[in-house]
Amino acid sequence: MSTLATTVDGLNFKNPFVIGSGPPGTNVKVIKRAFNEGWGGVIAKTVSLDCSKVVNVGPRYAKLMANDGKEVIGWENIELISDRKFEIWLDEFKEAKDACPDGILIASVMEEYNRDAWCEIIERCQDAGVDAFELNFSCPHGLPERKMGAAMGQDPAILEEVCGWVMGVSKIPVWAKMTPNVTHIEEPTAAALRAGCHGVSAINTIRSVMGVNLETLRPEPTVEGYTTPGGYSSKAVKPIALRMVMEIAQLIKKDFPGRTLSGLGGVETGADAAQFILLGSDTVQVCTGVMKFGYGMAKELCEGLLEFMEGKGFETISEFKGLSLPYFTTHAELVRMQLARKAEEAAIKERASMVKNDAEWDGDDFVKQSNELSR
Ligand SMILES: Cc1cc2nc3c(=O)[nH]c(=O)nc-3n(C[C@H](O)[C@H](O)[C@H](O)COP(=O)(O)O)c2cc1C
Repeated sequence: MSTLATTVDGLNFKNPFVIGSGPPGTNVKVIKRAFNEGWGGVIAKTVSLDCSKVVNVGPRYAKLMANDGKEVIGWENIELISDRKFEIWLDEFKEAKDACPDGILIASVMEEYNRDAWCEIIERCQDAGVDAFELNFSCPHGLPERKMGAAMGQDPAILEEVCGWVMGVSKIPVWAKMTPNVTHIEEPTAAALRAGCHGVSAINTIRSVMGVNLETLRPEPTVEGYTTPGGYSSKAVKPIALRMVMEIAQLIKKDFPGRTLSGLGGVETGADAAQFILLGSDTVQVCTGVMKFGYGMAKELCEGLLEFMEGKGFETISEFKGLSLPYFTTHAELVRMQLARKAEEAAIKERASMVKNDAEWDGDDFVKQSNELSR
């Protein structure tokens, strides 16, 4: 019998499906709803100590539709972190844990480059009873203007320093959430893991411009006639997320064995999740998918993943975690392997054409057949 239950950094998840930080974890009502619908964990919307600087605009989402005009395949947002008061969040963390003690509740936190602020936010959230932290070093819009979010995640030296501050005060597991808006995601990942973080999450959204309205000639989402580049998510980002998850998993395997990885970006089905796990994820997060399909999708995610596991005879998540990683290599190696296989096939064909008994001699190929037998 296969099981989805999995223990990651000492946290017992009833399944590896975790709500990714964003609207689906934005207050205690929806967090409780997520746990009641069967999600293994919830990462709450990112909080900071002072929400007065967080001012959202509307519209703040724009969608890319498939050619059938019905399916959303890409989603841009220019939403900021939570605009709700930190003190209210602390009460809601307690309330969520009291109501759903078995659900893994992870606080997503973000602060400016200030040691006291980071230590304070960590200490106060952990006193409220959250199970773990996700450090948001990855929001690509709005916050970088204040040197927060992706501005920190793109600077490994600052990232390492800030993770060090957090690890100095945190008594619970810490995951650092990586931005995909870098050339080599291994570099900030290594910085966070060197500083002692238990794991990383990847990916946050990809900096994007959804499009330009051909009537008004204004880029979208249009706010007062203008826009600002936002973060791209949903199904269309899955190939990029898988590539980065693979790169991080290879780094963890080589240099940081035992550290963990929470994969996300475009996950909508159990089969998507199986791919993230095959490339090294311990848990799998979903954010935009919940905005498209609702909290009830947890059931289909679990059923789909179990179906894959039972079909392949895997009893636990750890039995197939990272199993597809050895099948990545360089392009030069692909060329070498392909040439070797073709040469081998040609040799087999040649051997097969040799005369095996006297009935096979024929007049047209007589010289060739004689030569083959003389080698
Ligand atoms: C509307 C929206 C708001 C988001 N807000 C946050 C946030 O507050 N903190 C954070 O770490 N990530 C945030 N994200 C990023 C998601 O958690 C996730 O990393 C990204 O969207 C890719 O996963 P997905 O395709 O499953 O959404 C947000 C994403 C969306 C679409």
